[in-house]
Amino acid sequence: MKRVEVKDNYEELSRYAARFVAKKIITNDEVVLGLPTGETPAKAYDFLVEYHQEDLLDFSHVTTFNLDEYFPIKKENEKSFYRYMKEELYDRVNLPDQRRHIPDGTTPRTEVERHCRDYERKISETGGIDLQVLGIGENGHIGFNEPGTELDTETNLVRLNRETVKEKFEGLSDPPAHAITMGIKTIMQSDEILLLASGKRKAEAVERTLRGPVTRDCPASVLQLHPNVTYIVDKEAGAKIIKE
Ligand code: GLP
Repeated sequence: MKRVEVKDNYEELSRYAARFVAKKIITNDEVVLGLPTGETPAKAYDFLVEYHQEDLLDFSHVTTFNLDEYFPIKKENEKSFYRYMKEELYDRVNLPDQRRHIPDGTTPRTEVERHCRDYERKISETGGIDLQVLGIGENGHIGFNEPGTELDTETNLVRLNRETVKEKFEGLSDPPAHAITMGIKTIMQSDEILLLASGKRKAEAVERTLRGPVTRDCPASVLQLHPNVTYIVDKEAGAKIIKE
C-alpha cells in the first residue's frame, strides 16, 4: 500500500510522523524501529519526547536501529549521528541502553566488515524492523546509499559523495570520507516504511521518488517496489507532485 500525506508545514509533518511512530510503540509490545538522523526528523523526536514526558509513551520495550553513521568519527564529535541520537532521543526517554543500536564510527578499520555483519545479525535476531523511518537526500539517497548503489546491499562501508560531505561538513576541517549505512536490501526488508521530506530543496527528489522510473540513480525510487510505504511531505517538498 502506498500513501502520500501532504501536510501544510514542517510542524504538521512532524506531528503526524510522531503520532505514526507513537501508535506503533503503543500497539506493538516488541516494536523494532529503524531510525534516521538529520534536520528533518528532529521535530518529530521532540514530539515523541513530549508524549513520553506526558506519560503517554513508554520506550522500555522499544528496540531501535539507526540507519547510518559517519566513518571514522568520534562519538563526541558534534556531527556524529551518535551524538545527535543521544541529544534528540536517548537522553530524553526511557529507551534501555541495550535496546538501542547505531553503527559505531569508532570501529577499527579492520573490524568494520565484521561490525556490519553483526549489525545485520542483530536486526535479524530481533525478528526484523517493523517500521523504518527515512529522510531523503537532495540526490535521492536514503541512509547513505548514494546514487548508483546496488539494490542487494546490506549494512556496509560506503564512500560519501563529495557534495554530501560538503553539504554536511561545510567549513569543518578533516571531514570523514566514509559512512557505515544500512543497505538498500536492509531497508527494503523492513515490514513498513515511513519517509519524511520537508522543504523545497527536496521537491525534485520527492518527485523522482514517487513519479520517476525505479532506478539506482535515485535510490529512494526503489521504494516503489515496497508494498507498505507512507510518504509524509510538507507542501514545499510536495510542490512538484501536487500541482499539474
Ligand atoms: C543524510 C543522512 C540521511 C538523511 C539525509 C537528509 O545524508 N544519511 O539519512 O535522510 O541526510 O538529511 P536532512 O534531513 O538533514 O535534510
